[in-house]
Amino acid sequence: MIREISEEDAESLAKIHRRCFGKGWSEESFRSMLFQKCFAGLAEEDETVIRGFILAQVVIDEAEIVTFCVLPEFRGRGVGKSLLAELMKRFAKGHVKKVFLEVAEDNDEAIGLYKSMGYEEMRRRQNYYRTKRETKNAAVLAKNL
Ligand SMILES: CC(C)(COP(=O)(O)OP(=O)(O)OC[C@H]1O[C@@H](n2cnc3c(N)ncnc32)[C@H](O)[C@@H]1OP(=O)(O)O)[C@@H](O)C(=O)NCCC(=O)NCCS
Repeated sequence: MIREISEEDAESLAKIHRRCFGKGWSEESFRSMLFQKCFAGLAEEDETVIRGFILAQVVIDEAEIVTFCVLPEFRGRGVGKSLLAELMKRFAKGHVKKVFLEVAEDNDEAIGLYKSMGYEEMRRRQNYYRTKRETKNAAVLAKNL
C-alpha cells in the first residue's frame, strides 16, 4: 500500500534511511522537512512495515526528489518503481511540470530505474558527494510531466 508520509513517520524514516545510506539523516531532519508544506513524500507499507519511501521538495511548478530508498531486503521487486510512478502521477495532477534529482553517477540501480521511467540526464556535477575517503560526481536527471 502506498500512502503519504507525515511528521509522525520521522523516526521510521530515519531508521530506514540509515540502513540504506549508512550515515543517514536524523529523525529531527525528517520531522522538520515534513513539517513544511513544500515537502511531499510517499511510503510503501506492508501492513505496519515501511519498505521504502520517496521525498520531494516542490517549488512552484518544479519538484526535486531529495531522497528515495527501499530497504535492501525488499529491493528488485518493483517497490521503488511504484513509489516513483505514484509520486509523478500525483504531481502531474497538480501544478508540477518538471521533476529533477541528483544521483551518484555510479548508482546503476537508481539510474536504471529513473531512465526506465523517462528521466534524462541533463548534466554532471563534479565532486558533488564528498566523504573523508572519496568524492563522487553526480548526474542531474530530469523529466517533464
Ligand atoms: C534505487 C532504489 C530505490 C530502487 O528500488 P527498488 O525497489 O529495488 O527498484 P525496483 O525493484 O522498482 O526496480 C525498478 C527498476 O530499476 C532498474 N534497476 C534495478 N536494478 C538495476 C541494476 N542493477 N542496473 C540497472 N537498472 C536496475 C530497472 O529498470 C528496474 O525495472 P525492471 O525491474 O522493470 O527492469 C533502491 O535500489 C535503493 O534504495 N537504493 C539505495 C538508495 C539509493 O541509491 N537511492 C537513490 C538515490 S538517488
